[in-house]
Amino acid sequence: MTTRSTTTPPRLLSGVQSTGTIHLGNYLGAIKNWVAMQESYESYVFIADLHSVTIPDTIEPSKLREARTSVAAMYIACGMDPKRATIFRQSDVAEHAYAGWLLTCVTPLGWLERMTQFKSKTQNRTDANREVSIGTGLLTYPCLQAADIVLYDADVVPTGEDQKQHLELCRDIVQRFNKLFGSNCLKAPRPMIQKSGSRIMGLDDPSAKMSKSTGERNQGHAIWLVDSPDTIVRKLRRAKTDLGSAVDIAQMSDGVSNLVEIYGTCAGLTPESARAHFDGKPYSALKQEVADVVIEMLRPIQQRYAELISDPEMLERILLDGASKARDHAGATLKRMRSAMGLQ
Ligand code: AQP
Repeated sequence: MTTRSTTTPPRLLSGVQSTGTIHLGNYLGAIKNWVAMQESYESYVFIADLHSVTIPDTIEPSKLREARTSVAAMYIACGMDPKRATIFRQSDVAEHAYAGWLLTCVTPLGWLERMTQFKSKTQNRTDANREVSIGTGLLTYPCLQAADIVLYDADVVPTGEDQKQHLELCRDIVQRFNKLFGSNCLKAPRPMIQKSGSRIMGLDDPSAKMSKSTGERNQGHAIWLVDSPDTIVRKLRRAKTDLGSAVDIAQMSDGVSNLVEIYGTCAGLTPESARAHFDGKPYSALKQEVADVVIEMLRPIQQRYAELISDPEMLERILLDGASKARDHAGATLKRMRSAMGLQ
């Protein structure tokens, strides 16, 4: 592990898959926090395009290409500053795939098979082609994720709640690697999951987390950061609540509690204040206030996004510059890993 002086800022690493456009859950659970932290952390944020190909029969090359660019534009529109943070596409830094392979080889199969995300994604696939439709990448993806993190000696990894298990696994993989090949080679990251906004649920089904892939299939599931005000109002009006008509904070259904949490996180309120704000108010008012706060929060982001997406050359320059900086750090770590394993 590289030793850093006490004056060097701690390092942050995180990313979003380019499986579609970014939704409110990605923003509130992850990106909003990176933006706030970039002042005090040396930040590496990447477009996780290699993670976007783990379900081979859903890959559409033109859509993937588009998503890689739109995710990058959205990071910057949300407030990531390319002058402060290193922003890059994962696949532009070949060290990720290389280190991912090395960590795959040191990871026991049983650890990966225990991952709930792997279990839920494979259980859903009941088609006749099941045997060929589940790619091995779906199983080994947490090893690539561990490589993403260790390559930058990341101190913290701010993510939503859904990544907690993978980050714990990453720590186990680091410990195993260090035990096998040298106690100080890789750094174990610290997960960072905020109390509020770390698990935004689907509007149509509050028992499932909001996700890009479900949002692509079900119209009313996710709020995309590019949604127009009318669309946001319409989606929220249809959001699932329950048979009651007014908020009772003593017994909120999952749908109501999700809307209250969205409001509180967007408005910067504590969960208690958000609940108190809505106690006794009709669901129609809750939905309208959530729509208002989301629309206002997204307005400047959408304006900036429209400018950025219309300048692909500028985005490309930012990403290539980011990849070149990322490669410097990733290359040094990979060298350390190869040397520790006897590969050089
Ligand atoms: N619903 C969410 N609430 C809070 N945080 C979330 N994150 C994702 N969903 C929520 C956080 O966003 C970062 C990027 O995660 P991702 O790219 O895996 O997001 P996704 O929308 O879940 O993507 P997909 O492609 O649709 O994946 P699946 O189908 O696996 O859900 C992470 O920090 C994540 O925690």
